[in-house]
Amino acid sequence: MLFRPTAEAELDRLLGCVVDESISWAHPERLLSFLESGNYRHAWIWVAEENGEIMARAVWWGSPDAGKPLALDCLYVHPSVDDPIGLAAGLLAHAHAAYDDKPAYHVFVSNGWRGDPRPAAAIAWRRTAAGRAGLTEELERLRYEWTAEAEVPKSSDRLEFREEDDDEVFVEAFRRVAVGTLDHHTREALLTMDPVAQAREDVAGYRSMPGDRSWWRLAYTGDGALAGVALPSANSGGPVVGYLGVVPEHRGRGYVDDLLAEITRSHAERGVQRIVADTDAGNVPMARAFERAGYRNFAIRLVLSPLPSGT
Ligand SMILES: CC(C)(COP(=O)(O)OP(=O)(O)OC[C@H]1O[C@@H](n2cnc3c(N)ncnc32)[C@H](O)[C@@H]1OP(=O)(O)O)[C@@H](O)C(=O)NCCC(=O)NCCS
Repeated sequence: MLFRPTAEAELDRLLGCVVDESISWAHPERLLSFLESGNYRHAWIWVAEENGEIMARAVWWGSPDAGKPLALDCLYVHPSVDDPIGLAAGLLAHAHAAYDDKPAYHVFVSNGWRGDPRPAAAIAWRRTAAGRAGLTEELERLRYEWTAEAEVPKSSDRLEFREEDDDEVFVEAFRRVAVGTLDHHTREALLTMDPVAQAREDVAGYRSMPGDRSWWRLAYTGDGALAGVALPSANSGGPVVGYLGVVPEHRGRGYVDDLLAEITRSHAERGVQRIVADTDAGNVPMARAFERAGYRNFAIRLVLSPLPSGT
C-alpha cells in the first residue's frame, strides 16, 4: 500500500470517492469549490493506493494562506477494504508525520445520531481509526442557526455596547471572560498557557476571520463596569455568532441574552439571512441562551482531537 498526497492531474479519481454513510464528507461540489478557494489543496488530500486504485482518501481543510491544515474534513475507505480501521489509521499517521501535526477531525452529524444505526456505524469505525492515529479526545458541539424568519431581537435596555479600536482592551476582556468558562477548548488551553497569552491568541484568531473587526463590541453596565464581550463574525461559510462572554462577577443575571441579541441584531441589520453558531454540549448556559433567542439546533459537530500538548 502506498500512502501519498495527491496531484492536480488525478482530480477525476478523487471526485470518484463517494461516502454514503449519513455523515458530512468532501463531496464533489465541496471538493471543487474548496480547491478553488485554497481551503483544500492537493498537498492536504492524501490517498492510500494499491495497484493504481484509491483504497482510502483523507481530506484536510485549512486557511488559504496557512502552511498546514487546520482540520481533517473527510475520511473515506473503499467498501472492498477488509480492514477499514487499520487502513484509515495508517493513512492518517502518514499524513500526520508529513504535517508534523495531528489536526482534529471535525464530523457533522444529525441530532440523535447515537441512536441511529447508519451515522452511529459511520462514526464508530472512524473514531477508532482516528484514535489509533492519536486523535483520542472526543468533544460534541451543538450547531445552531438563526434565520431571518425569526424575530430580530430588541437592543438591550441595561447594557451599553461600545466599539473599541485597541485590540489589547479586547485581550484583557477575553482574559476576564475566560475565568470559569465551561468551553472545553478554552479550559484546555488554560491548563498550559498563561491567561493573557491565551486571550491574545483568541483575539488574533478572531482577527484572522473574514468577519469585520468594526463589528466587535464591549458591553458595559449602567455604572460603567465591563459586563462582557460580543463579537459578531463570519467564516468561509458565512456569518457566525463568533464569540461572546460575561465576566464572572456578572454571571447569572441573563446578560448572555443581551450579548447574543446584540450579535444577532448586528448581523440582521446588515441583511444577513442566516447566522450559524457552535457551542459545546457541556456549555449549558450558552446552549439555553441560543434556544431562548430563537436559534435552532440543526446538527452536531463531533471533534476528535489529540491530547493537548503539555498535559
Ligand atoms: C456562557 C455565559 C456567557 C453565560 O452567561 P450568563 O449571563 O451568566 O448566563 P445566565 O445568566 O443565563 O446563567 C444561567 C445559569 O448558569 C450559571 N452559569 C453561567 N455561566 C456559568 C459558568 N461559566 N460556570 C458555571 N455556571 C455558570 C449562572 O450562574 C446561572 O445559574 P442560576 O440559574 O443558578 O442562577 C458565561 O458562562 C460565559 O461568559 N462563559 C465564558 C465564555 C463562553 O463560554 N462563551 C460562549 C462560547 S460559545
